[in-house]
Amino acid sequence: MAKVYVTVQLPQQILQPLLQHDVTVWQGETPVPDDVLESEVSEVEGLLTILTDRIDAELLDKAPHLRIVSQMAVGVDNIDLAACHQRGIIVGHTPDVLTGTVADHAFALLGAIARRLPEGEREVRAGEWGPWQPFHLTGGDLHETVLGIVGMGRIGREVARRASGYDMEVIYSSPGTGPGERVDLPELLRRSDHVILCCALNDETRGLIGTRELELMKPTAYLVNVSRGPVVKTDDLADALQRGSIAGAALDVTDPEPLPSDHRLLDLPGCLVVPHIASASVRTRTAMASLAVENLLNGLEGKALRARFPSSA
Ligand code: GLV
Repeated sequence: MAKVYVTVQLPQQILQPLLQHDVTVWQGETPVPDDVLESEVSEVEGLLTILTDRIDAELLDKAPHLRIVSQMAVGVDNIDLAACHQRGIIVGHTPDVLTGTVADHAFALLGAIARRLPEGEREVRAGEWGPWQPFHLTGGDLHETVLGIVGMGRIGREVARRASGYDMEVIYSSPGTGPGERVDLPELLRRSDHVILCCALNDETRGLIGTRELELMKPTAYLVNVSRGPVVKTDDLADALQRGSIAGAALDVTDPEPLPSDHRLLDLPGCLVVPHIASASVRTRTAMASLAVENLLNGLEGKALRARFPSSA
């Protein structure tokens, strides 16, 4: 029986298979504080984490028995992978099971911002629905436009597949390959009517989209971020929206997260922000939690993980 710490509450039936081990679950509603996590890990062999947990070398030094970190997310930018590797700790994550749901969400955000749904909704709720006007709340089309996808991984490819149903021309910039024309980032930004960020956060993508990049985009273009907040420089985006350098942005993720309710991005009508919910369908979150538990169990038992990061390891 191994000692295991789980940093988030999960449905009992999903946790059930883990209960053959000595499991402690963080009971708070907020992310587990760093000092609590530090004191909990001293004897654990397995950790089930979420993206708000900072798993760095300092924490790992306090966890001499740790063998497996199983993250309930596809992104693992909160985990120091090199430090895990050095210590022989394997890392699991939850790709594939969320790909379609995140791609659906990218299109939900794009449709909402390009067709100005948040502005229309606010108007209706405020009792300001006036007479029908020919050009009131006119936005951008999705169909027959050029879609730029930044990051052609699993999610980027699924976004591209949906784009073909909208008769979009897909261009992309990415180390990976996929459908559509591969171009460099400046060309993508110049040519796209819409840009969807689907890349992982790493040293190459942190701060990828700032003033210079936003200035390359069309003033009628919309930006969607379903990757990680720090891929976009938040102040630069707010400035660009204010100046009208682009038409709008829909963000599933922000930097910082949570975005404070008085943040200036929220005063900009062309900005839609939702609280990091791209994978949040019942089916997908259930699948992610189950896969995280399965990866953790397999790691503890020395078996191959269904989803190990990186997948070639
Ligand atoms: C969510 O953001 C994830 O990485 O799964």
